[in-house]
Amino acid sequence: MTEKQPTTTQTGTPVASDEHSLTVGANGSTALHDHYLIEKLASFNRERVPERNPHAKGGGAFGEFVVTEDVSKYTRAAAFQPGAKSETLIRFSSVAGEQGSPDTWRDVRGFSLRFYTTEGNLDIVGNNTPTFFIRDGIKFPDFIHSQKRLGASGLRDADMQWDFWTLSPESAHQVTYLMGDRGLSKSWRHLNGYGSHTYQWINAAGERFWVKYHFISQQGVEHMSPEDAERIAGSDADFYRRDLFDAIDRGEFPSWDVEVQIMPYEEAKTYRFNPFDLTKVWPKADYPRIKVGTFTLNRNPRNFFGEIEQAAFSPGNQVPGTGISPDKMLMARVFSYPDAQRHRIGTNFNQLPVNQPHVAETHNYMHEGNMRFHFNGPEHRTYTPNSYGAAGGPAADPLAGVEARWESDGELTRTAATLRADDDDFGQAGTLYRDVFDAAAKERFHAVLGGQLASITVPRIREQFFQYWTNVDAELGQILRSNAA
Ligand code: HEM
Repeated sequence: MTEKQPTTTQTGTPVASDEHSLTVGANGSTALHDHYLIEKLASFNRERVPERNPHAKGGGAFGEFVVTEDVSKYTRAAAFQPGAKSETLIRFSSVAGEQGSPDTWRDVRGFSLRFYTTEGNLDIVGNNTPTFFIRDGIKFPDFIHSQKRLGASGLRDADMQWDFWTLSPESAHQVTYLMGDRGLSKSWRHLNGYGSHTYQWINAAGERFWVKYHFISQQGVEHMSPEDAERIAGSDADFYRRDLFDAIDRGEFPSWDVEVQIMPYEEAKTYRFNPFDLTKVWPKADYPRIKVGTFTLNRNPRNFFGEIEQAAFSPGNQVPGTGISPDKMLMARVFSYPDAQRHRIGTNFNQLPVNQPHVAETHNYMHEGNMRFHFNGPEHRTYTPNSYGAAGGPAADPLAGVEARWESDGELTRTAATLRADDDDFGQAGTLYRDVFDAAAKERFHAVLGGQLASITVPRIREQFFQYWTNVDAELGQILRSNAA
């Protein structure tokens, strides 16, 4: 057996004991100058960082993405060229629960995917549903508050969830997904991921396309019964986290096909649904899915805190050839994530090993701040422009920094997006219920909604509930009313 290394203080001095504090005699007072005791307790007191608000509970793994098809006519991004391989990081999560909450509470599941590309990190931070509850970022804090806990009691509350949803009719499509089978996945391995928003792709000739990302599970999409979910919530709160870790540990590597829907740039102007409204999908009949490649998860984190808890994903992390779109939610998210991470992790969160680019380099004139780890050499100027040539620092290049672009002109206003021919809040929710759910799925859906209704205590909100589902589908409204009678 090799000899253990001596335990040291944080500054490398060997310490005498991890069992006994320094005291005045064996039975006397503790000495304040026990430097190591104080350092150890102080470090312990600072172990927790604020949890994510929302998506606090999650788990993740690393893997590899391989491009198997040729989509170069749509994007010039190096990571999407034929044969390209990129290291990936994924983090799955639930939305509303706290860090210790049970994995199997009904919820949407987060699906955060990072590609460490030669042109910088590309993050697609989506969910296991292709839509969302709201369509303007200004409502996001209210939405999350309604899913978390009441101010006074600190309890979660069906009244406030349903009050918010039923007064926000744009939520109907996503709530239909959530109350259906996707609200209770069998495991993280058995769900699809979606970028959900519309993003932009730009090819080598500068042509632009609108794109939606789909990540299709090769394990299949499977769900869990509410009874099993409730039982497991009590017996193994970390069920999904354990399932993913153990599967990878035993060499059973899960994988997902990366597929995209592509809309030519000009078609967005007249498409029958607002293509930048993330409460809507683009029907496959209009824009079929095109395969790009496959990613496989093959490495567990070596340290959960260092590599998963401190991971900082952001929809703003795009690369040349990919970009965002004029979706009001997406634009708000580009601000919100790094802001949250500066608070949650610290100013220089992007210098941590999990967040720094793995195959690209960073060069810029930002410097200093708490816990700055990397610094520029002495010849590097702290400002630009400067006259010191290459040694003085980098230069921005408009040709290299390919960004998403779109036309935009108008008066500043606070108003909903202009409605298109087929835009309405309940239409696609009704189609999902009527045409996608089979008879058995419909029955499970009715039962779940019945359970939800039973926990709504305010008569006014119960009535809002009936009206909401009647708007989705008149017969569904009838069924819920008669089941409740
Ligand atoms: C304007 C609307 C939104 C705002 C302001 C917002 C804000 C946030 C914030 C602040 C976090 C925590 C980030 C961190 O501490 O690292 C977060 C996490 C997350 N959000 Fe959002 N969000 C919005 C909409 C969405 C949408 C539409 C989706 C999915 C399509 C989504 C998916 C996620 C996921 C998956 C995470 C967890 C990220 C991780 O794994 O680290 N969010 N969100």
